[in-house]
Amino acid sequence: MSADAVPQLDIPTLLTALTPEEKAGLLDGSDFWHTQGVERLGIPAVMVTDGPHGLRKQSGEGDHLGLHGSVPATCFPPAAGLASTWNPELLERIGAALGRECRAEEVAVLLGPGINMKRSPLCGRNFEYFSEDPALAGVLGTALVNGVQSEGVGTSLKHFAANNQETDRMTVSADVDERTLREIYLPAFERVVTGAQPWTVMCSYNRINGVYASEDRWLLTDVLRDEWGYRGLVVSDWGAVNQRDAGVHAGLDLEMPSSGGGGTATILAAVKAGTLSEKDVDLAVTRVLELVNKSLPALTPGQTFDADAHHELAREAAAASAVLLKNDGDLLPLAATGTIAVIGEFARSPRFQGAGSSQVNPTRVDSALDALRAARDVVFAPGFVIESEEADPALVEEAAAAARDAGVAVVFLGLPPSYESEGYDRDHMDLPQHQTDLLNAVADVNDNVVVVLSNGSVVTVAPWQDRAGAILEGWLLGQAGGSATADLLLGVTNPAGKLAETVPVRYEDNPTVGAFPGEAGHVRYGEGLLIGYRWYDAHRLEVAYPFGHGLSYTSFAYADLEVTTGSDTARVSLTVTNSGARPGTETVQVYVTDPQASVYRPEQELRGFAQVSLAPGESRQVTVELDRRAFAFWHPALRDWTVEGGEFGIRVGSSSRDIRLRATITLTGDEVTTPLTAESTVDGWLAHPSAGAWLRDQLGDGPFNAMLFDPKNGQMMRAIPLLRLSRFPGCPVTEPQVRDAVSRFS
Ligand code: BGC
Repeated sequence: MSADAVPQLDIPTLLTALTPEEKAGLLDGSDFWHTQGVERLGIPAVMVTDGPHGLRKQSGEGDHLGLHGSVPATCFPPAAGLASTWNPELLERIGAALGRECRAEEVAVLLGPGINMKRSPLCGRNFEYFSEDPALAGVLGTALVNGVQSEGVGTSLKHFAANNQETDRMTVSADVDERTLREIYLPAFERVVTGAQPWTVMCSYNRINGVYASEDRWLLTDVLRDEWGYRGLVVSDWGAVNQRDAGVHAGLDLEMPSSGGGGTATILAAVKAGTLSEKDVDLAVTRVLELVNKSLPALTPGQTFDADAHHELAREAAAASAVLLKNDGDLLPLAATGTIAVIGEFARSPRFQGAGSSQVNPTRVDSALDALRAARDVVFAPGFVIESEEADPALVEEAAAAARDAGVAVVFLGLPPSYESEGYDRDHMDLPQHQTDLLNAVADVNDNVVVVLSNGSVVTVAPWQDRAGAILEGWLLGQAGGSATADLLLGVTNPAGKLAETVPVRYEDNPTVGAFPGEAGHVRYGEGLLIGYRWYDAHRLEVAYPFGHGLSYTSFAYADLEVTTGSDTARVSLTVTNSGARPGTETVQVYVTDPQASVYRPEQELRGFAQVSLAPGESRQVTVELDRRAFAFWHPALRDWTVEGGEFGIRVGSSSRDIRLRATITLTGDEVTTPLTAESTVDGWLAHPSAGAWLRDQLGDGPFNAMLFDPKNGQMMRAIPLLRLSRFPGCPVTEPQVRDAVSRFS
């Protein structure tokens, strides 16, 4: 049967045929991974399952923590790797491959991607998230969702919202002001919702300003649906439901996993008591049935996928995900001759994904050691035991001996799996001490040391990086990471990855010190807008490697910046030339600055990027469109996006701290009138287009006017709320006049 011919459920008819019990039942799962069906009415159950960088379909016992096995599936690089590609086209292809694997396993919805912000480098789940920057996460998340859904399989955009730590994740309240939510923690979700309409959105476990996400009507209905136009279904994270009836009213349609009937009973009781409307229930039921309808065409049995082709795609993705942090004296790519000492257990036993619900059972796994051995003369020494906290002197001695006689030593270091996982946060940002000791032992006997890192979350490099001539940040690269790493080391592929998060010099430099992971059930986002590079820039802090950084085996020249403007938009174009000797790919980053704003704005913010692949000597024009939002801020008083007219800076760079071209533009922007209240200061009144003229008239030329505009004390006087000033003896404006004016002008 062709997909189009698959019969669809007739939802209006079903809504009249379903009993209240059946309706409430449809809003609950039937087990760990399935929705409920209603056999008598031909409503099938569908399967939803993890995700996100591969399929984790459990055919036996179910769990949401990666404890039990799952069917083999391609393990692509987790989001920390994929984000460093800065390549939405690649992510869309990966998404489509994931969609095909879901179809082959008759899975209707893949539970991902996770696009929470990397607020603290210690978040145990950072390997599953894209970036510290919402624009980058939003663009990449959109591409992945579009890819999966192009195959007729749904996604679940998670974890909505402000789920930025694992400590107390099921109860903690993220206490965060609205402007910070709007500008930092929500935009990636907004972008994916508006750009890809994920079939489902997964609400997070935590509370936001005291309210559980699973029962936050402002979040799940006012913002998600009414403002952003979301048309899909909201599902709970596994076990996120607190008060089920409040959840239905808030806009949480489906509870997962099955509540064993508890959720259904609560819904029925609330409808009976009149505290939950049948309309709310019908709306949620409609969304569940719509999800089933969307799923049906792709759920035909007997579909397959090409595991070899997907492995190749995983290899391409892994190569694009690695970031060349440093490469002194062009140590990489490795010289074509001479023995390579490959050191470190990770070369033989790769760490390619993180632990928890996203853990995939890979179809196969490449090791860098095998791939390097196939190409070159290699001597291997494991150097350490991955999960040990102690050095093994015999292994260190063996590694040093191997390095002594080799032309170059490639040392594979990284975080043991137990250091980072869903469910808990890290204690520190460092590699195990015995691994850096091993590096020192190797560097003592060989001047040509390359370090390859395997870590899902950022690690400190400052204490040891001087001992390595080159560092390749490999993140977690999925099942083909080993062969991809060998390709990069040997120069078969040219590194193009760029950091999607800052590598700070020390943990103590990061913005959340003292405010992570919180206490007494609350975590205060005191740094506000200043996460990631926004913080390091604001505080003029040196970093080990800045956001957006990543080297290549070739070089790129930037020239001919041109910016054309609309009233609140701009088009940025420039010429990029491959000025080196190898083909390569560059990601051009466009940052916007707003030095004249009436509110605090971060020093610079990524607002667009473009990737270009060039042969040696080739030039190409690159264009980046900046929409209105690129210049807007969330106005705390207007509670809306505002573009304040005036000058903006455009910075074009190869990283956030390698700005190559700059321009200043002027935008007309919006007419901004801050509403007047009884608390508005005299200055506030004077700035108002009509109230200002009224007040000047009232003041006339008398002594009050002179006092208010006195060069020495005027500013202090004008900071007084007009209503209070009106009570001062001799003030020419009376309190009733001010009250009347508030109602007239606001
Ligand atoms: C995780 C989700 C996951 C779900 C199902 C939860 O613990 O937070 O990301 O999709 O389990 O396994």
